[in-house]
Amino acid sequence: MEKRAWLDTSKSKRFQLILYPLVVANAIAISGCESSNAKPLEADYRRAESLRPSDTTLAQKYERSCIACHTVKGSNAPLAGFSGDWHPRIKQGMPTLLEHARNGFKAMPARGYCNDCSDEELSALIAFMSASQSKEGV
Ligand code: HEC
Repeated sequence: MEKRAWLDTSKSKRFQLILYPLVVANAIAISGCESSNAKPLEADYRRAESLRPSDTTLAQKYERSCIACHTVKGSNAPLAGFSGDWHPRIKQGMPTLLEHARNGFKAMPARGYCNDCSDEELSALIAFMSASQSKEGV
């Protein structure tokens, strides 16, 4: 009896711990896609600061270039990992995004100050920053 009650509790806890955050994350991802007016919250900035590309070389280049603007409030740069900022831009397609990153675009400086970034690395950095919580690819 007692054991069964414990099992039942753990099952509902499992739902709370595992499924609920997934449901919330999906709801956020979906609402981010539907509304390009969604503004990042404090938690989104904190997450952006902690995200790094898994490749070491790419992470180093990211840390000395893109991170300075794409994780910072008030820079007007689309926030790393925040789909609400990236979704309308992704619609332009990767060739356009790459061209804008390479040549500069409004307040976005040419090559994002990463002069030794190849086009492939720029594309990988764009894919990394525009992926929502490292879950959705581009
Ligand atoms: C000095 C600040 C700064 C740095 C450094 C920077 N960016 Fe940006 N970036 C911006 C701003 C501001 C925008 C938004 C421009 C706009 O749409 O007004 C932007 C926009 C972009 C866009 C979207 C362009 C579009 O067509 O919508 C891409 C892609 C991008 N940056 C990639 C990068 C990459 C990759 C790096 C690092 C190699 C980087 N940026 C470094 C400021 C920066």
